[in-house]
Amino acid sequence: GKTKVEDGDPRDFVVKMQRANKRCVILYGSQTGTAEEYAIRLAKEAKSRFGISSLVCDPEEYDMNLLDQVPEDCCVFFVMATYGEGEPTDNANTLMELIMDPTPEFSQGESTLENLNYVVFGLGNKTYEFYNEVARNVDKRLTACRARRIGDRGEGDDDKSMEEDYLAWKDTMWEAFAERMGVEEGGAGDVADFVVRELADHAPEKVYHGELSPRALLATASGASTPVGAYGVKNPYPAPVLASKELFAVGGDRNCIHIEFDITGSGISYQHGDHVGIWPSNPDLEVNRLLSILGLEQKAQAIVDVESLDPALAKVPFPTPATYDAIFRHYLDISAIASRQTIAFLARYAPTEAAKEKLTRWGSDKDIYAAEIDGPALKLAEVLQAAVGDDFHPPFRSTVWSIPFDRIVSSVPRLQPRYYSISSSSKLHPSAIHVTAVVLKYQSAASPAHHHEPRWVFGLSTNFILNVKMAHSGENTPELESENGMEAVTMKKVPSYRLAGPRGHYVREKVYRVPIHVRRSTFRLPTSPKVPIIMIGPGTGVAPFRGFVQERVALARKAIEKNGPDALKDWAPIYLFYGCRRADEDFLYREEWPEYEKELKGVFRMKVAFSREMKKADGGKVYVQDLIHEAASELAPLILEKRAYIYICGDAKSMSKAVEERLAQIMGEAKGGSAAVEGVKELKTLKERNRLMTDVWS
Ligand code: 2AM
Repeated sequence: GKTKVEDGDPRDFVVKMQRANKRCVILYGSQTGTAEEYAIRLAKEAKSRFGISSLVCDPEEYDMNLLDQVPEDCCVFFVMATYGEGEPTDNANTLMELIMDPTPEFSQGESTLENLNYVVFGLGNKTYEFYNEVARNVDKRLTACRARRIGDRGEGDDDKSMEEDYLAWKDTMWEAFAERMGVEEGGAGDVADFVVRELADHAPEKVYHGELSPRALLATASGASTPVGAYGVKNPYPAPVLASKELFAVGGDRNCIHIEFDITGSGISYQHGDHVGIWPSNPDLEVNRLLSILGLEQKAQAIVDVESLDPALAKVPFPTPATYDAIFRHYLDISAIASRQTIAFLARYAPTEAAKEKLTRWGSDKDIYAAEIDGPALKLAEVLQAAVGDDFHPPFRSTVWSIPFDRIVSSVPRLQPRYYSISSSSKLHPSAIHVTAVVLKYQSAASPAHHHEPRWVFGLSTNFILNVKMAHSGENTPELESENGMEAVTMKKVPSYRLAGPRGHYVREKVYRVPIHVRRSTFRLPTSPKVPIIMIGPGTGVAPFRGFVQERVALARKAIEKNGPDALKDWAPIYLFYGCRRADEDFLYREEWPEYEKELKGVFRMKVAFSREMKKADGGKVYVQDLIHEAASELAPLILEKRAYIYICGDAKSMSKAVEERLAQIMGEAKGGSAAVEGVKELKTLKERNRLMTDVWS
């Protein structure tokens, strides 16, 4: 039947493709998914070869009567499987009925398709009688309707040679395609993955303001204290902040934050050694700068809906509808140093020729990128400012870049969670997760190209944590001064509603919440306390070991309760090698360790390398690896005879390597051999047997 299709009809694939600058529609008749896979491959190839973007469609979901309205400079692909006795797949039934009609009526009420360019690839099976009947019928009938095929019809045999048939067919087809479409390999590449619409009015409870999953939104809207459902990477838990404090002695300009998240009632559980993913937000400064450059400042709270044109090729990376502000603040990684790929991609939207040249240069030349973007640590908005010669300082009266918002969504990576080793034990703190994070801040390189001196660069997630700590403890300046103006890091404030009072009314209360989820690890203690443990973790590398020691403290309490004060008599030793600069400066959890030593009397031995207090005989710094060497006669028998477990956590580059070398040396010498031969062999064995475990980062 023929129905008049209104503009905006979701079944109108022609409008949908035009709205997003697509030039191909790829229809698939698929039963088990194979034809759909080939359809996606064709779409990807059209994109990578010619920069042409496609709408991959299930014909059942669209109005096929509109085939006669596909513009002349576009193309329809039919990727059609034949089933059983020459039958189409279920999802192609309606399409085939239309096409097989002796006088098919398209939307204009005619049976001609004079403007239609098409490609056919069939998937069939030669063991059946009607080999590729569906694709052949499509081809025959479309030709009869005066549509114009591009290249030859492709046919693949599922019985033997589908892949080879496809490969043998496609290159000649793409040549013909390029000619008909008037494009060249490596062409323009101006493609759309998404359609973005601003919504005039939308139910406010259905708008995302930073929630990371539909379930989180539902919970916020209903006023529940905690959202229902399982929490995980796909549905992070907005955990209330229980406590937070500075771990470094005051006075210095360095920060190390201890923060505790409440997981009561969330159903989240964890083990010592697990990681917690923390979902940071972008600072005001970066959000506002980018909104301003894109001319979206006045529209920051406008509600936008983002839809993927082909979800199989590109998923919308965040939940929508959301506000522009929320998208930049919570969902896209706009605080990272802009990547070469993003810069190169955005060059075509430059407001001036000169700016376009700059972006192209930064985006294409590795060395120039390193010197002018990566070294000075320019974020996306700063790159756009620098390209037009605007200043980085607020207020941003910048030249506006009219970049279609869907291209921003396509080219800026999604904001990802950052992982931290949990620094508590679930035995001692079943309803809290502790994190120990040193706040990252460094000087960038100078940037003569942009007339900038070296400037402070602030790590996103750790400064976010610092900010949450400041807000939570009532410190009122959550802003960081930098040399070139202000670098404000804004905390994420999620108001929450908690049930309280005898009559069950809701009392509104403000609680700082941070979205988190737990990631399991294999960094675990042996179950038996009779196995010796050697832990090495300088700096924040000590984080998981605080959890490990707490775990043993909990076990010791139980044992003592059951068997009396001698319960730890046959426990194996627990060594912790820790390193920091000075006892009165950056000694993490300094006041806790003596308590643990008391509770684990005769078992727990902590050795600290104060690198800026102690000196070796040769005047060099004392590091954890030096203490290990000093303790060789105690450690070697534990490792070689008592099957001790060794754990290393912290800096991957120099520390863990140096520690491993020293361990090899101890073992090699204890075996009467050398570090290089026997030592390395023992080290390898330890790793293979999972008795040497590492949790290191760079
Ligand atoms: P430093 O800063 O005095 O050089 C935590 O950062 C501790 O690890 C500090 O005492 C630091 O010493 C020390 N450290 C730095 N580099 C190290 C390395 N390669 N191996 C072991 N410890 C190191």
